[in-house]
Amino acid sequence: MPAIASRFCEQFGLTTPIALAPMAGAAGGALALACARAGALGLVGGGYGDLDWVKTEYEKAFTQTDRKTLKRLGMGFITWRLNTDASALDWVLDQASKPAAMMFSFGDPSQYAARVQHHNIPIICQAQRVEQVPKLIEAGAQVIVAQGGEAGGHGMRNEFARGTFTLVPEIADWLAKHSPDTLLLAAGGVADGRGLAAAMMLGADGGVVGSRLWVTKECLAPVAALHQAVDATGDDTARSSVFDVLRNLEWPAPYDFRALRNDLHRQWEGRLEPLRQQPEPARKDYQQGVSQQDYSRAHVTVGEATGLIHDIPSATTVIETMSKQANKLLGLG
Ligand SMILES: Cc1cc2nc3c(=O)[nH]c(=O)nc-3n(C[C@H](O)[C@H](O)[C@H](O)COP(=O)(O)O)c2cc1C
Repeated sequence: MPAIASRFCEQFGLTTPIALAPMAGAAGGALALACARAGALGLVGGGYGDLDWVKTEYEKAFTQTDRKTLKRLGMGFITWRLNTDASALDWVLDQASKPAAMMFSFGDPSQYAARVQHHNIPIICQAQRVEQVPKLIEAGAQVIVAQGGEAGGHGMRNEFARGTFTLVPEIADWLAKHSPDTLLLAAGGVADGRGLAAAMMLGADGGVVGSRLWVTKECLAPVAALHQAVDATGDDTARSSVFDVLRNLEWPAPYDFRALRNDLHRQWEGRLEPLRQQPEPARKDYQQGVSQQDYSRAHVTVGEATGLIHDIPSATTVIETMSKQANKLLGLG
């Protein structure tokens, strides 16, 4: 029995109420597997649905893995991107070892839910505002992730973003009243035992951890990028669409992206229209930055929690340390 016993742990056979965020291109099979082995839910970051990437990372996590660990392994996809190409989702659903959970973020998952439910796979949906929750439950979500604006990566743009500290209890109250069997996870700023304990106190059944697990040995991002995150404080991040325009990603209007604010970001923040109208020179600059691992130009995807991250340990160490500290703070161990 986990020290922090939650419905989330019971459903997925976890020993700690933590889920690895399905971080596009970064949360590969090795990171997901390490998290699952450490007792958390490991979600492979299927992201934009690149079939070759998904096949490679699925193999690393799901093949030759024991049944207990398989119960803790799932996948996540960026929902709006599936509207263009859902072949990676379909490929995963065709495999003998099915994911234990399928997470959809950023968009309406209705048209994909039936395919997933057909295999009895629980659906996790990420929401940024209370008003999104009824529709996500109607679409089939059994777990809601309440993502605050401090989170790393994509989320609701500043004008509409909510903070984790109020979003989580507000959604917890709504679920208690309208859909008590739906589980709730908190995302955005959960980076140590204090954050996890706080998430539980706010009414969540667990926490989704992105930035903290991004800065680990198993992450697929370049080590030089992880060092940038270690050296930064929470003041050093910014939300904007600058890096989406630079990467030629057509994100739907309500969403933008939190990452470290670097020189190239500073150059274009507040000047998105000129950037959109003539993106090529800046894209070239950005691409050079990526290929040279020059992080004054290339992006480093972390949230405000970067200020709580001071090392690059293994995912196992992160999960064990975080769980131990949360247990202690909650008076459980
Ligand atoms: C590097 C990175 C990539 C991310 N990519 C995705 C993604 O592909 N799909 C998704 O649902 N969320 C993604 N997220 C957001 C996470 O799901 C989660 O909401 C967030 O990381 C939680 O906040 P934290 O970074 O403070 O832990 C990403 C986050 C990071 C840091």
